[in-house]
Amino acid sequence: MWGSVMRDGPRRVAVVTGASRGLGAGMAASFAAAGMALGLCARVRPTIPRGAEALCSPVDVAEPGALERFADDVVARFGRIDLWVNNAGVLAPVGPLADAGADALRRSLEVNLGGVVAGTRAFARHVRTRPGGGVLVNISSGAAAHPYEGWAAYCAAKAAVDMLTEVVALEERRHGLRAYAVAPGVVDTAMQATIRATDAADFPEVDRFVRLHEAGAFNSPDWVARFVLDLADRAAADGGLGGAVVLRVPDEPPP
Ligand SMILES: NC(=O)c1ccc[n+]([C@@H]2O[C@H](COP(=O)([O-])OP(=O)(O)OC[C@H]3O[C@@H](n4cnc5c(N)ncnc54)[C@H](OP(=O)(O)O)[C@@H]3O)[C@@H](O)[C@H]2O)c1
Repeated sequence: MWGSVMRDGPRRVAVVTGASRGLGAGMAASFAAAGMALGLCARVRPTIPRGAEALCSPVDVAEPGALERFADDVVARFGRIDLWVNNAGVLAPVGPLADAGADALRRSLEVNLGGVVAGTRAFARHVRTRPGGGVLVNISSGAAAHPYEGWAAYCAAKAAVDMLTEVVALEERRHGLRAYAVAPGVVDTAMQATIRATDAADFPEVDRFVRLHEAGAFNSPDWVARFVLDLADRAAADGGLGGAVVLRVPDEPPP
């Protein structure tokens, strides 16, 4: 497992942002179970997954310089970073753009786009410092390609993340960085609970997410994590999944 893009040797190192709960915490647990050392951050300091070696730090991804400092800390602790997952994200504000507060809109873009820009830059710079390449996964969303009424800032940021990732995949390929934007499908997290609790006046498609919940039609964080690990493997062999950069995790079969 893990081809030539990844480091030879027993311990691979992954960073996950937004690892205090939800998809990020779940991916961290799965990466730990796969034997990886971890750099985990969120505004609330993430807990160390069972049996893992991890550096866990309180980081606001929107704070200038914060992810660069965190990358330096992880490299100081573990020597290098092989896989970097920009997962931190927020849904708010929800409702028509014209009704949203200017500060809330700015904050949304600073976290969902600015945080990914900063994390991508920090990791690309790290990969350039040593041989062996690396894999970047920016967690996107179906909202990058589907215009949901009420989610203007979120949709716009995720669409920008997809294009950012496509550009960086081209720019950094010669340095051995393989970059992917991955929509995880629907994952049952606090963000999904928030979506289901939204007023239809603010988010007209709320019923669709209520029905998905009733059907239990979710991707588990472990399913998403396994997709990411498999992607990192394939990145060495053929540039990923047929060379595509923007990907969606397939639906997990029911148990
Ligand atoms: N759940 C889904 O169905 C779904 C679908 C498509 C895409 N996604 C994407 O998947 C990612 C994870 O979402 P989730 O469902 O796991 O949401 P969640 O349960 O709300 O978790 C979000 C994570 O991001 C962190 N975070 C938020 N703002 C942050 C900031 N400024 N700095 C650092 N960390 C921050 C949160 O930690 P703190 O609050 O401690 O900072 C938390 O760990 C997001 O990018 C989301 O857009 C989710």
